[in-house]
Amino acid sequence: MTLLLTNIGELVTQDDAVGIIHDAAVVLDGERIAWVGPAAAAPAADERIDAAGRAVIPGFVDSHAHLVFAGDRAAEFAARMAGESYTGGGIRTTVAATRSAGDDVLHAGADRLVREMRRQGTTTIEIKSGYGLSVDEEARSLRIARRLTTETTFLGAHVVPVEYQDRPDDYVALVAGPMLEAAAPHARWIDVFCERGAFDGDQAREILQAGARAGLGLRIHANQLSAGPGVRIAVELGAASADHCTHLSDADVDALAGSDTVATLLPGAEFSTRSPYPDARRLLDAGVVVALATDCNPGSSFTSSMPFCLALGVREMGLSPAEALWAATAGGARALRRDDLGVIRPGARADLVLLNAPSYLHLAYRPGVPLISTVLHDGVPL
Ligand code: NIG
Ligand code: FE
Repeated sequence: MTLLLTNIGELVTQDDAVGIIHDAAVVLDGERIAWVGPAAAAPAADERIDAAGRAVIPGFVDSHAHLVFAGDRAAEFAARMAGESYTGGGIRTTVAATRSAGDDVLHAGADRLVREMRRQGTTTIEIKSGYGLSVDEEARSLRIARRLTTETTFLGAHVVPVEYQDRPDDYVALVAGPMLEAAAPHARWIDVFCERGAFDGDQAREILQAGARAGLGLRIHANQLSAGPGVRIAVELGAASADHCTHLSDADVDALAGSDTVATLLPGAEFSTRSPYPDARRLLDAGVVVALATDCNPGSSFTSSMPFCLALGVREMGLSPAEALWAATAGGARALRRDDLGVIRPGARADLVLLNAPSYLHLAYRPGVPLISTVLHDGVPL
């Protein structure tokens, strides 16, 4: 089945920087894009959608989300807004709630968030485990995640669970050994929260190297709450992405600039923890590839909205609207090492979003407004 999307006022292909075509059309053939060009030259197709002069962009690629969990931490958020600071200590609250929830509850919760994301224009979602923290619970979370996405990430090294608090090295051995073995068949990636109070540089390196030996790609929660070794380890090990990147030294920025590691910025976390935002301008000016993602999770960033994160990137982090859109689409694809996403070109996945706006500029210009009209995922309208 072919589908012609025509009368597009502004098509943001992202193929060559922003790559805008006016009065454009796109033809989808099943799950792939088959043709892109001026509407006047478009070939015929089985079905047709008239964009009526509105803008079309690639679907958002949300390369960092924690969706498999139970429980609620709204009271923790309220306490932060009254002056408490975020430490990551609440992760254990979610671990307790997740362990006592049935598979159906965990799946339904994650599925609800995936639907919420799709309605807001996200067509690719990375989903992490990390609220189970035992061999069986991490494997269970990943089995649930795998029903919802192919971009699954094993995050057994989120924090040391309470039953291991007096012997963290035993927990590191468990994560790098039996837990990894149980998780690897369900995961594409491995991630570590490298931070004071979570895992130090040596522990992160040990776990990530074990993951690499098991065939997983590497990602890391790095330099979120304080300066530390996370970014340097990401670059040293060739990780696809270093995520957060809030507290960076000049050496960290230089290391990222000379690497294939993407800096994935998660401004929803700074918003929800009332923290200073990462400096996207500094990273881009140094030549670092930047992605934007939601970090959707019940503790530090309970937003599922890529348009919200894009607007924060523009207002608070020094990105131009074009740079922010690239980071939220093609940048996310780079962070997942995917060349078939985040662009509108023949051969790429048929993941597109029709906006209720004449230009992608409106995503940041009209923050908080539901501008997502039609979402096409795998060539199928939602
Ligand atoms: O990316 N930093 C660690 N993990 C999450 C927060 C998880 C939580 O607070 O539940 C993050 O911010
Ligand atoms: Fe995270």
